[in-house]
This record gives sequence, C-alpha cells and structure tokens, in this order.
Amino acid sequence: MSHLSFDFSNLKGFISEKALEHLSPDIQACHESLEKGEGPGSEFLGWKSPGKPESIPGEIEEVAESLRDRCEVFIVVGIGGSYMGAQAGLTFLKSSFPNGLGKAGGPEIYFSGHNISSDYHSDLLELIEGKDVCLNVISKSGTTTEPAIAFRILKELVEKKYGVDGAKERIVATTDAGKGALNKLANEQGYRKFVIPDDIGGRYSVLTPVGLLPMAVSGINIRKLLAGALKGEELYSRPSVMENEACQYAGFRHSLYQKGFTTEILASFQPCLHHFAEWWKQLAGESEGKDQKGIFPASAEFTTDLHSLGQWIQDGGRTIFETFLLLEKSDRQLKIPASKNDPDGLNYLAGKTLDEVNRKAYEGTALAHLEGGVPNLSISIKDRSPESLGQLFYFFERAVAMTGYLNGVNPFDQPGVEFYKKNMFKLLNKPGY
Ligand code: PA5
Repeated sequence: MSHLSFDFSNLKGFISEKALEHLSPDIQACHESLEKGEGPGSEFLGWKSPGKPESIPGEIEEVAESLRDRCEVFIVVGIGGSYMGAQAGLTFLKSSFPNGLGKAGGPEIYFSGHNISSDYHSDLLELIEGKDVCLNVISKSGTTTEPAIAFRILKELVEKKYGVDGAKERIVATTDAGKGALNKLANEQGYRKFVIPDDIGGRYSVLTPVGLLPMAVSGINIRKLLAGALKGEELYSRPSVMENEACQYAGFRHSLYQKGFTTEILASFQPCLHHFAEWWKQLAGESEGKDQKGIFPASAEFTTDLHSLGQWIQDGGRTIFETFLLLEKSDRQLKIPASKNDPDGLNYLAGKTLDEVNRKAYEGTALAHLEGGVPNLSISIKDRSPESLGQLFYFFERAVAMTGYLNGVNPFDQPGVEFYKKNMFKLLNKPGY
C-alpha cells in the first residue's frame, strides 16, 4: 500500500482538465528516457533502483552499532547532498529535539562542514567539550573545501584526544571508490570507508551510505526506509501517466512553470519536515535551475510563516504555486484543555486535538491562497515512519528528474556551482587558480 496520497484538485482553474492529457506524450517520452537510461546525464541513474532491504550491506548496521556504543557525540561532516538527507531523516523520524532524548536516544548528532563560519564551528567545539566524539566525513568528490576545512579541525581534535591510532577507530569516511583527496587520506590513515556509487550524484545519494550510516547511528531502521523507497520505485516507474503520480506532479509543475508560475513553495504544517524541505530545495534547485530556466524552489513552514510570509503569498506577485506537504497522523495526540470561565475565549476548541486544528489551518490556508490566485496541490504522508519517508525521498527524486527532462535540461549535473568556487580559490591564492 502506498504511503503517500495526492490531491491536485486545487489546480483546476489554472490548468485545464486537458492540460495533462496534452502534455501526456511528452511526459511519456521523458519517462521512457528515464526508464531506459537514454536521457541526458544517464550515467547518474543509480538512485532509480534503491535495492532491496536485504541487500543493505550488514556492514553499515554493524559500524553504526559500534559507533553508537562508542560515542556520546556523532558529527557528520559534509555539505549539500552529503548531509541534507540524513538531517531530514533525523528530524522527521526521531524528534523535533533529537539531541535531547538522553542516552536511550543514541548519541547526540551534529552537522558540520556545510559552512565556513568561525562561530558555528567554535560553538560546536565548545558544545562537545569533554564528550566522546566520533566523526563521519562525507564527500563524493573528496575535494570540497567546506567539509575539508571542518574535517581538518575536527580530526585534529579527535587525534589529540584519543591519539592517532585511537582516532582511526572513531573516524569513518564516506566517499568515492577510488578518486579524491578524502579517499587518499582515508586509505593512508586506515579509516573505515564506505563507498558512494559512481552512478549516484550527491543530491540523489540519501539512500546510499551517505544518508544510511548517519541515520542508522541515530537508531533509524534503514531497512524499513529502503522498503519505502522500493515501494516508490514500484509505483513511480509505472508506464501509464494516469497511474503514476510522480509523472503527474512533474507534468503539473511543468505546465504551471510555462504559465508563469516560476516559484514553487513547498509548505508544511510540521516542523519535523523542516529539513526535508531543505533537502528538497537542493534536489530541485540544483537539478532544474540551469540554462536560464527552472522553477525556483522555496519553502515555508506554516502556520509559523503565515505570520511572516503569509501576506506576500496571499497578495504579492502572482508567480507562485504551492505544494503542501501534509502529515496524516501525528505520532502522539495532544488535546486542548477546557478552562473554567473561558478567560482566553478558547473553550470553543476544548477537547479538540492539535491535529484537528492544524488540519483546519491547512484547509483555510489552501482555500485563501487559491482565492488569492495561488494554485496549490497537496501530498499527504501517511505517518512518520521510515517506510513513508523512503517513499517520499524516492517520489521527489523521480519527479524532479522528470521535470528537468520536460524542461530540456540535464537534472544530474550542477555546472553553475563551480563559479563561486573559482572566484573564492583565486582570492585565496589556491595553487593553480
Ligand atoms: O548534488 C551535488 O552533487 C552537490 O550538491 C554535492 O552534494 C555537494 O556539492 C557536496 O559535494 P561532495 O559530496 O563532493 O563534497
């Protein structure tokens, strides 16, 4: 059974009933290119088959278990696709406050190497002082500056604390099989190493050791996560557009873009989806934004942002559409208590659950934004289970790749990311620049 359901009805009025039908041959052609591996960037389609849960190398779980036993703090060092999926998994599957769960919740997990901020890294060093630390440095290219700087600092700390030999037991590298400075360093130092397959790019790598090891360290059942992704593969490789929601979503996005709705806001009513939205922004932005084309991916967290961005969304430039990411069922239910004499006038809500109120907030928002000229659609996630998350990751990977093909770009490269690096390296006098 699917862990996701879709509602495209609020697109009526913006996209005619026939639009998807008209676009259907193009969608079909793109779908076939993806299936047969004949489109641009087809050397990076390894993510399409996430593999059966039984095929997970037991080594990931073994190493995760030994890291859990060994450390109080686990630091993931990486940037972009090398950390965002794991962070999304932790927040969605564990807790809004994952580091406050105590010993039973596993090690505290922090992320580093995704900026060059002195204060961020100093704060982290202060926070972990006196605690037992393990590191997972992740970089597919093995040459990315931000994680390399952070790793140099953290490696020094770990070596000082445990000695060079002791540090080896506490550092795991996730990188390319044979290339890059990190690979060389890992081999020289004798670190435990996990390989990122050649045919999977950074932002599509959440279901490889890149995302799986940190999630397993946190105690997440990665076999169930893969089972969800496998469900996604079954559903979203279906040949008929009308039975394949990833194709439909890609088709609607493309039609909206062609009509001038050039920004998509991924909006949720759940803070546990905050980092998921960050993961999605990278996936969509780096995959689709090229050749002076592409939907700009933005995110909002409601109802919080209804009190900041809500005015703009309701009434500003009409270039946006919304994709609501809804959670059908919270893990736990909280009821609003009755209060004697109703001093705050809230007794009309007494006895209702927060989920019920949040649902009405969504319905009210979707209607208001629709009336304000913002087309919207919704994707409902059954629950906060690893199976649901696995399917969700897979759904968006598939749909984003499809939208890229529909817009005539290669969704698997990111040439634009090099430009800031060249300038920065030149300004820093890096040899060769
Ligand atoms: O999707 C991508 O390829 C990028 O966003 C990378 O994930 C990011 O730049 C980090 O690269 P690397 O893992 O090589 O350090």
